[in-house]
Amino acid sequence: MTADDSATPETEDGPGADGADQLALDPWGSATVSDYRKLFDEFGIGEFEGLLESVPNPHYLMRRAIIFGHRDYRRVLDAMRNDEPFAALSGFMPTGDPHVGHKMVFDEIIWHQKRGGDAYALIADLEAHAARGLSWAEIDEHARDYLLSLLALGFDPEAGTLYRQSENRDVQDLGFELGVEANFSELEAIYGFDGETDVSHMQAVVTQMADICYPQLGEPKPTVIPVGPDQDPHVRLARDLAARTRYFGVTEAYASFELDDDERALVARAYESLSDGEDDVRCVHAAEWLADAAPGDDGTRERAIRKLRAAGKEPLRPRVRFLDRNATADAFEALIEAVEGDKRVFDEHVDAFDLDRGDAEDLAREVEVAHGGYGFVPPSSIYHRFMTGLTGGKMSSSVPASHISLLDDPGDGYDKVMAATTGGRETAEEQRELGGRADECPVYELYAYLLAADDDAFAERVYDECVNGERLCGDCKQQAAELMREFLADHQEKRAEAEALLAETGIELESPRRR
Ligand code: TRP
Ligand code: SF4
Repeated sequence: MTADDSATPETEDGPGADGADQLALDPWGSATVSDYRKLFDEFGIGEFEGLLESVPNPHYLMRRAIIFGHRDYRRVLDAMRNDEPFAALSGFMPTGDPHVGHKMVFDEIIWHQKRGGDAYALIADLEAHAARGLSWAEIDEHARDYLLSLLALGFDPEAGTLYRQSENRDVQDLGFELGVEANFSELEAIYGFDGETDVSHMQAVVTQMADICYPQLGEPKPTVIPVGPDQDPHVRLARDLAARTRYFGVTEAYASFELDDDERALVARAYESLSDGEDDVRCVHAAEWLADAAPGDDGTRERAIRKLRAAGKEPLRPRVRFLDRNATADAFEALIEAVEGDKRVFDEHVDAFDLDRGDAEDLAREVEVAHGGYGFVPPSSIYHRFMTGLTGGKMSSSVPASHISLLDDPGDGYDKVMAATTGGRETAEEQRELGGRADECPVYELYAYLLAADDDAFAERVYDECVNGERLCGDCKQQAAELMREFLADHQEKRAEAEALLAETGIELESPRRR
């Protein structure tokens, strides 16, 4: 894992614009990710597929499983479907030209904006300066290019928010506060930082944490961060830090003592079974019930029994528990006041007997926000696959032939597609007989990720014709190259039109910083 700026090769960029082959998730390394499946098991990223049917009118990147993973995205979908507030935010490090990999992220932000989300796009200029050593003049040039492409693709700057990290005082202040919750050992473990790591690089980390939480500053709301899986370490840390700022924890309990999740599941079973016959269930009864039940295979059951026995005749009664984590004394008082119905107040927690878990969480957040807390909802994320480079291997902004820049001359775009490697066979005969390997073909990827746009039937036709041997690479590439030429010409026209829009946004295009 490389965390030192000077040693970081200039091969990886963007929230996931790059290609694929190594499992470690390292936002600044040249790491790429080949085995997406492992990400589910090893890092706890959820499979997007399971959510697809809950997505209203899914984007083609979702339909084609190019968006393959997520964390907690259901929260965002629920808000979207119930017409409740939600947000989408992503950031772009201005280290080179925006390319077709970044277009995916632009499109994802815009898609959420069209579905009613508050949309945010930021230029990660502090990060580019600290982690990649770009000068402010270089940063300004690239920043402008990212913004123009985003606007050209349909981002509405009046409804949404654009900012540069360096210009956003609220983000910097929030980063400072979140930094209070993180220490060096953690950054060391997550990013491989060591004694040689620049302090500003660490500051870039807390700034990104602040970016991720920024949409919730006005009001807590589900927020999705569309990125490549290389950014997952950032998402996980942001979720942790957001949780650490919370005033109250909300859990479920059955008696005065604490249970961990596994123990609680056992006690819940005992309670359910016993409360069927009698309404006065005591802790000792549950202990006996558990002792009679088939022995558990770990210490969980023993621990639960021990705790239940220790509580003796205390009645077992389901409740939600508010734990005082970081609340001010005033906030804790206010929470106690606000809990309706039957409740019991302890030193560092309140038990509520007439509230369900969801209502309790809403209440805790309300009280927190009313008393100066952030009340952050854990940020969600969605992850897209990296595009393969046109020359095979990974797509890299430092290798022009490997990617198509959104600024490429349309004729050059045409040529790059014609020169791309394919999943084709040695000879036309072989291709007709065996079919092409669309799954390993960067040209097919161009169709699926970009050129077929919303036209699923077209993407499928290309795929089927390829694998059935009806499509030969020469013609296939030519068709793709022509579509690419058209796309680039059209996009660049829209970029020119977006100039006026960009000027109106008022975003700083020339940093006063010079170095
Ligand atoms: N670190 C991201 C990159 O490498 C850029 C970034 C900064 C970002 N802040 C963000 C991405 C917030 C998503 C959300 O390009
Ligand atoms: Fe790729 Fe097209 Fe050749 Fe199939 S026919 S391998 S999709 S270039």
